[in-house]
Amino acid sequence: MATPRQKLGTKEPKASQTLSEAQIAVHWKEEQYYYPSKKFIAQANLKDPALVKKFSEKNFPACFDHYASALDWDKKWHKTLDTSNPPFWKWFVGGKLNACYNCVDRHLAKYKNKAAIIFVPEPEGETTTVITYQELYKRVNELAAVLGDFAGLKTGDRVTIHMPMIPELPITMLACARLGIVHSVVFGGFSGEACGLRAADSGSRVLIYADGYWRNGKWVDHKAAAEIAVKTAEKEGQRIDKVLVWQRYPGKYSSETPMVKERDHFINDVVKAYHGQTVQPVSQDAEAPLFLMYTSGTTGRPKGCQHRTGGYLAYVTGTAKYYQDIHPEDVYWCMADIGWITGHSYIVYGPLALAATSVLYEGVPQYPDVGRPWRIAERLDVNIFHTSPTAIRMLRKAGLDEPRKYNYHFKHMTTVGEPIEPEVWQWYYDVVGKGEAAIVDTWWQTETGGFLCTTKPALDPMKPGSAGPPALGIYPVIWDEEGREVKAGSNLAGNICIRNPWPGIMQTIWGDPQRFVSQYYKKYNKNAQSKDWRDWPYYAADGAMIAKDGYYRILGRVDDVINVAGHRLGTKEVESACLTIPEIAEAAVVPAVDEVKGRVPVVFISLKPGASAEETRAIQDKVTTAIETMIGKIARPKEIHMVPDMPKTRSGKIMRRVLAAIENHMDTGDITTLANPDVVEQIRVLVQGHEEGKLQEGPEDIKRFGQES
Ligand code: WT7
Repeated sequence: MATPRQKLGTKEPKASQTLSEAQIAVHWKEEQYYYPSKKFIAQANLKDPALVKKFSEKNFPACFDHYASALDWDKKWHKTLDTSNPPFWKWFVGGKLNACYNCVDRHLAKYKNKAAIIFVPEPEGETTTVITYQELYKRVNELAAVLGDFAGLKTGDRVTIHMPMIPELPITMLACARLGIVHSVVFGGFSGEACGLRAADSGSRVLIYADGYWRNGKWVDHKAAAEIAVKTAEKEGQRIDKVLVWQRYPGKYSSETPMVKERDHFINDVVKAYHGQTVQPVSQDAEAPLFLMYTSGTTGRPKGCQHRTGGYLAYVTGTAKYYQDIHPEDVYWCMADIGWITGHSYIVYGPLALAATSVLYEGVPQYPDVGRPWRIAERLDVNIFHTSPTAIRMLRKAGLDEPRKYNYHFKHMTTVGEPIEPEVWQWYYDVVGKGEAAIVDTWWQTETGGFLCTTKPALDPMKPGSAGPPALGIYPVIWDEEGREVKAGSNLAGNICIRNPWPGIMQTIWGDPQRFVSQYYKKYNKNAQSKDWRDWPYYAADGAMIAKDGYYRILGRVDDVINVAGHRLGTKEVESACLTIPEIAEAAVVPAVDEVKGRVPVVFISLKPGASAEETRAIQDKVTTAIETMIGKIARPKEIHMVPDMPKTRSGKIMRRVLAAIENHMDTGDITTLANPDVVEQIRVLVQGHEEGKLQEGPEDIKRFGQES
């Protein structure tokens, strides 16, 4: 029996599952412009239109010398960009520098008594810690001595750092950078298993941990994760020789997990023997890898994005200076976690290279109440603020008027990580920014090192919901599936690509250069032999559209990645976790709209024949536990539906787009070609109940979800 839903789907004979991006018209109301204040413009780093001109396409790639010149080099580069082996670009060829030197040593002459890092513990009764550039220099040197001498680490070795937001995290990263050790920081909220897999992939034999930390009023015994990480890495064939542990409260071990003799060491104790030691920063090739940052993609395993020293540091320094308007006098607070790329680029490397004061907050913004961020801002006189739409939505929902109670003043605010709804933007502007702060909505990715689209805060008007024009030296284009350009003002969406290389782009995927090429460059490359960079546009896997004024609006991922609270979650990773449960035959994970987090994962599972469906609750609990142990709480599903069968194509592929449509009360489209169309209605009843509600238009990313796979 054909349901009304099926009729709806069949009335338009679409090329079925392969709906072209460009066919999706976007219903988007044009928003009005907002202008930065005269006061902001007067003091801004980027207010000279001549500088913008310098970055015009005809000056590519030499325009990027401007960013590199903001750094101190041991040896100047002789060539800005080498494109002889596309798409493996080389930036600032022949140049030598050290990233730690650029973030620490070079500031001592002028700023040694200035705060580099201000650490705010989550418990409000604990005092903040100020680390001056001088103190940072000392601590980084002593730790570098520990890493080199005690841990036996050398330039080029990889180290996995699984740590929370405490000052020892940036100190550890900088100490690695000083020696040219490639750090791989794993977000503290990820599970020990997730850490172990990443450690094995990177070939780390040393793990760096903290014993624990405060989160939302609870003490988290983090060292417990180290045991699992070591076991997981060893299962993968990677031996872990040493686990170095920072004590959150020096002198006291705050974890219940025993220290393992010979293997585990308290850094706080070991470092005493290196008191006052200094270590020469290793002069690194501009192309030497600085760090790995694992991120989710379309296959089961996260990939290690490898970032270079010179190009990366130049790019984050230049963009932090011009787009976040960071001056050395500013107190800058980014609420992101250093365990994500945002924290690497815009808590640690960018701001410190600019000699700014970077605030580090241990906990969650709503602890003990939603006034906390504003009390921190007031107390420390923060004047540049940076957060995500998820945090803004949450703070708005819980405390509409809260910011008004506090006497702080932001000159500038950043939003990053997800599309921001215009009404949420408006609250950020009016209430958090008190109508005084310039806002930049920055679109970029783990792979891209730094911002790709954003307004120039003193020069371009802001438009709520739009990232804005491309960043200096970035030349994007939107193409449809067939490679036709989607034009400005057409009201159509397509795949956003960057036509040119830029210094912040990752070098490769660690250990998998083939995947680097196929994932990011194959889609629109027409000649695999070409040595011309123009033939190698970067494919971002984001849907986007461009308005008449040249402002880009980012619609979200076009692949199997779900953006949960601004963090990437590979649906395949979650599905693999589900499939470790013996009773489960098949699993499919789709995004659901969430008022605060943007998107959240919803799991569909079907059981193996013979497995008893009576214990639904027990199996659902197993699924949640499997996901939390293999990935982390961040991936916890909003719902777990047990279905009789998955909707499948005749070739047996699970139609995730159909599940996503049902979950979000959207049109399922044409389902007549499925192998088992009847199951669709069964699943609909299961998810939505018998009564058929009104169909929703649904957001663009969910309309696209599952089209590719
Ligand atoms: C994905 C990248 C960028 C650092 C934090 C996330 C989405 C990012 C925006 C924005 C709309 C955005 C994209 C992108 N995204 N910024 N301003 N507007 N969407 O890095 O974890 O690598 O995620 O986040 O979908 O592909 P990431």
